Amino acid sequence: MPNRFTLEHRLPRDHSATSLRTDVLHGLATRPRTLPSKWFYDAHGSELFEQITRLPEYYPTRAEQEILTRRAPEIAALTRASTLIELGSGSSRKTRLLLDALTAAGTLQRYAPLDVSSSALTEAGEALCRDYPGLRVAATVTDFEQDLALGDEPGPRLLAFLGSTIGNLNPAERQSFYGTLRHALSSDDTLLLGADLVKDTGTLVRAYDDSQGVTAAFNKNVLTVLNRELDADFDPAAFDHEAVWNEAEERIEMHLRSRSTQTVKIPAVDLVLGLHAGESLRTEICSKFRRDALTSELATGGFTVRHWWTDSAARFALLLAVPTR
Ligand code: SAH
Ligand code: AVI
Repeated sequence: MPNRFTLEHRLPRDHSATSLRTDVLHGLATRPRTLPSKWFYDAHGSELFEQITRLPEYYPTRAEQEILTRRAPEIAALTRASTLIELGSGSSRKTRLLLDALTAAGTLQRYAPLDVSSSALTEAGEALCRDYPGLRVAATVTDFEQDLALGDEPGPRLLAFLGSTIGNLNPAERQSFYGTLRHALSSDDTLLLGADLVKDTGTLVRAYDDSQGVTAAFNKNVLTVLNRELDADFDPAAFDHEAVWNEAEERIEMHLRSRSTQTVKIPAVDLVLGLHAGESLRTEICSKFRRDALTSELATGGFTVRHWWTDSAARFALLLAVPTR
């Protein structure tokens, strides 16, 4: 591995043991039964997400890519960033558009991706060092909700949070996240946020319930994670994947619905889960946004939106915001 690539592990060594246990006890033992979506992303889950981004029904990646292709040079000129930090970077595939533009502008020194998935960070980091000979890649395995792990990166810093991963947080979690972010960023730093927009229900549901069943496999992968990490005995075949539009909250919810009345043992947390036929576990929320509401929640969180761009079909938005003075 080239020495321009570093990978810092900041999750506690017993992260899956402790944090996952707490989440399972909090989430599965109470109703509605829920799990935080970050547990999807073991190596297999990260790979399945990459497959999702290539599905014909999953438009968000292509829509955001379209905006970045068009706007990256402008973003580079506006921010003149020395460091590009990215939260939940995954494969960093779209990020290349920003890296190209910031390299061409001559300002970029460092790329600092953060993710819970060490496999995704390692794969992406190795490929980027190969393809960007001058670039230093300082990757961190961490949970961006617990520990933002921003360090002594040279400024100005551009903090990218792409893919509408912000939508996987509920409104209260988003406010707390903006607060942490606002605290971590200084006045010459910029936030680049990707957000999927409210649109017709059919398009939304199809994006999360694809005809090839990749999203179903991604959803069920969380059960495999619980089986491996907590010695649980979930049978993924005993659950149906479901993507439902929650009109009141304007979000897609991913569920795993029990096909029959069954009992699941999760010995590591001393839990025996009795599920009746049709009962569901909610594994992810994917909030969809409107311009006014997102601008206003960012304002509450201490950010002023300076630019708002969408793809040509207005499916997805990319916004540039600065800490409010
Ligand atoms: N930004 C990429 C990947 C989005 S998938 C894109 O737009 O395509 C969401 C990514 O965020 C995954 O790589 C996942 O591992 C990571 N992630 C999810 N929750 C996280 C958390 N709490 N802390 C850090 N990374 C997280
Ligand atoms: C990572 N996150 C923004 C994706 C989304 O659209 O909410 C995860 C995903 N879940 C199902 N398909 C994709």
